[in-house]
Amino acid sequence: MSGTTEKVSARAAVINVPVALGERGYDIVIGEGLLDEAGQRIARLRPGAAAAIVTDETVAALHLPRLERALAGADIRTTRIVIPAGEASKNYRSLETIVDAILDARIERGDLVIAMGGGVVGDLAGFAAAIARRGIDFVQIPTTLLAQVDSSVGGKTGVNTRHGKNLVGAFHQPVLVLADTALLNTLPPREFRAGYAEVVKYGLIADAPFFSWLEQKRAEVFAGGAARAEAIATSCRHKAAIVGRDEHEAGERALLNFGHTFGHALESATGYSDRLLHGEAIAIGMVLAFDFASRRGLSPIEHTRRVAAHLKEAGLPTAIADIPGERLTAETLIAHIGQDKKVTRGKLNFILTRGIGGAFVAADIPPTQVSEFLEEKIAA
Ligand SMILES: NC(=O)c1ccc[n+]([C@@H]2O[C@H](COP(=O)([O-])OP(=O)(O)OC[C@H]3O[C@@H](n4cnc5c(N)ncnc54)[C@H](O)[C@@H]3O)[C@@H](O)[C@H]2O)c1
Ligand SMILES: [Zn+2]
Repeated sequence: MSGTTEKVSARAAVINVPVALGERGYDIVIGEGLLDEAGQRIARLRPGAAAAIVTDETVAALHLPRLERALAGADIRTTRIVIPAGEASKNYRSLETIVDAILDARIERGDLVIAMGGGVVGDLAGFAAAIARRGIDFVQIPTTLLAQVDSSVGGKTGVNTRHGKNLVGAFHQPVLVLADTALLNTLPPREFRAGYAEVVKYGLIADAPFFSWLEQKRAEVFAGGAARAEAIATSCRHKAAIVGRDEHEAGERALLNFGHTFGHALESATGYSDRLLHGEAIAIGMVLAFDFASRRGLSPIEHTRRVAAHLKEAGLPTAIADIPGERLTAETLIAHIGQDKKVTRGKLNFILTRGIGGAFVAADIPPTQVSEFLEEKIAA
């Protein structure tokens, strides 16, 4: 998938990544300082539309005034809907608050919802937009690295329920994704590192040269500037390509869950707490997936070492033993894997690998093999 690069004023290049979904297609626009152009870009896309901005308290304090100024500058009428920060907000109650606020603000079907924040805001606001008035267009302005490379693209929206995470939701594609890479400068370093695990994931799934590039450029990506924008753009190209071929996850889109079977079990066993962020769980999960594959003779052991070394260098945990606090047991992890959505009729839908860049869906992994592997890992 190619994109176009335009020069905007005297600033750094802006990268455009199209998501090819026919009439639901849209652009992911990536660049440093893009927030100030949000007004012009949105006004061009939906002339005359009003907008409800959904954000969280942390992001509102840091970046909302600038977005509101940019929109006012393009004569866009706005209303703000601010929810408490954190995963705990991703529930029915916040959904109701947001939908009601959208209706209170008289946002019509031709208007817009703008989600400015991390994946929590994006998932919630996107779902609210999907159901308010049976569907209002929405724009993603992702402000975490995870959201810029993953959650803002692809149209999965939803909330958590007492039955589990993301069990209620809708596919609702945004009409535009504006990823201002400079917004990540205010992100806590731990959140940046966690998002970086998802960047590495794209290299591991399908792009060995990208993984090698990250091995060379990691420090520059963390520092910001052109290398960061390029890493985000490459990640988005991969996600866009996969979503373009398999919008509703009938097959290939499942590859994006590489490292996530183990990762979700770890997150769930640690209670989705501060002990382990999602990206941290995925970092460990990806190393486990490589290890599991190399034991089955599928992937060279050297690749497992390279992946673990790179993630470790990025400051991420790479082994179950790296998780702080009480030691996890194999039984707990296996129980959580058993409850995963990826189990179909007793077999695990597992994403395996033939080496860096060579992930594939294996639909027939007997759960016992996974349990034995985990028991061994934890005993070691
Ligand atoms: N829809 C999808 O396809 C998809 C994919 C992956 C993850 N997700 C969802 O995404 C969520 C996780 O997203 P997340 O990691 O972005 O979490 P998040 O939205 O909770 O953001 C993490 C923290 O960073 C703060 N923050 C956000 N932007 C900031 C900034 N620029 N400066 C300072 N602080 C900032 C937030 O207030 C929050 O406290 C989960 O709910 C997950 O299920 C969805
Ligand atoms: Zn993930």
